[in-house]
Amino acid sequence: MCYLFAPRPPLTTAHMDTLTLTRPDDMHLHLRDGAELASVIGASARCFARAIVMPNLRPPVATVPQALAYRERILRAVPEGIRFVPLMTLFLTDATSPAEIRQARDSGVVFGVKWYPAGATTHSDPGVTDIARVQAALETLAEIGMPLLVHGEVTDTDVDIFDREAAFIERLLAPLLQKLPALRVVLEHVTTRDAVEFVRSAPAHVAATITPQHLLFNRDAMFRGGLRPHYYCLPVLKAETHRRALLEAAVGGSPKFFLGTDSAPHGRAAKESACGCAGCYSAPAAIELYAQAFEQAGALTRLDEFAGRFGAEFYGLPRNGETITLQRREWLIPESLPFASGTIVPLAAGEKCPWKMTSS
Ligand code: NCD
Ligand code: ZN
Repeated sequence: MCYLFAPRPPLTTAHMDTLTLTRPDDMHLHLRDGAELASVIGASARCFARAIVMPNLRPPVATVPQALAYRERILRAVPEGIRFVPLMTLFLTDATSPAEIRQARDSGVVFGVKWYPAGATTHSDPGVTDIARVQAALETLAEIGMPLLVHGEVTDTDVDIFDREAAFIERLLAPLLQKLPALRVVLEHVTTRDAVEFVRSAPAHVAATITPQHLLFNRDAMFRGGLRPHYYCLPVLKAETHRRALLEAAVGGSPKFFLGTDSAPHGRAAKESACGCAGCYSAPAAIELYAQAFEQAGALTRLDEFAGRFGAEFYGLPRNGETITLQRREWLIPESLPFASGTIVPLAAGEKCPWKMTSS
């Protein structure tokens, strides 16, 4: 039974059965490493031309040589005959030097620096413990125009998990942008109305990515008929009013909001656990799930710019020349897929999806 996707009002694009899109880019992706990388890379590369690759490996991708080596491992894992360009990022630590950031810019393959508040999410322990410690690094980013990619959640235990994004904006991000108004920022995987409003009212060089899970599901999805760990990610799914604000932002035609799946694979055992990992593995159905969300909003025709234009523009990249095609053809998202030596449960596993990518 498909109870996660509630019936929606009639669509303005009801007669569209084929959707041709500019080959999209995924501006927030976790590819992991080794056997895990080999298991998941094909799902992203089948659809996306390029991806901003998150650096939260263990140990983190914190230096330019590490980013170059990781890039090579990713390229080697891309299936034969597919072109996929990993856009690398550096993991910001208290020790990241301005020189490292300049070297990153000079490398030509690093496109951003990721700020994880220490302890905010998966493998973020080596992250920033206090913003004061990275002041010089942030000033360098602002000076050279390289984007700071932000996991926007405070880690303070006095803040409720559902309020951590809003508190981060108020306590850390707004003051930071006051101090460094030229800083280019992507507030990653926004989940709240507060974040949407903040990004909207900020200057043009402050943008946000939006995931498929935050467009399609509210926090109820984690508790339907029992505890559903495969709907648990960080920032955690929020209330319906926030989901609606995200959907409005995604389909609204503002170049400040673009596609970033945050596809974050964890093996089944790591998710179905007494202390399960955060992350939804959306890559196997990502573009299809976005199409479903945009259709629910009556705005399928806006998907192309959200998925294939605005992100590229923000990062100063040319738009991809090729296209992909989606057909209205219902299919079942697999219950489980191979992952290293085990299995993984994708986002919306076992659910019907009305769109299927058929060709590129
Ligand atoms: C991500 C992961 O597993 O690497 N998890 C998640 O829930 N999104 C980390 C992150 O982006 O927060
Ligand atoms: Zn992420």
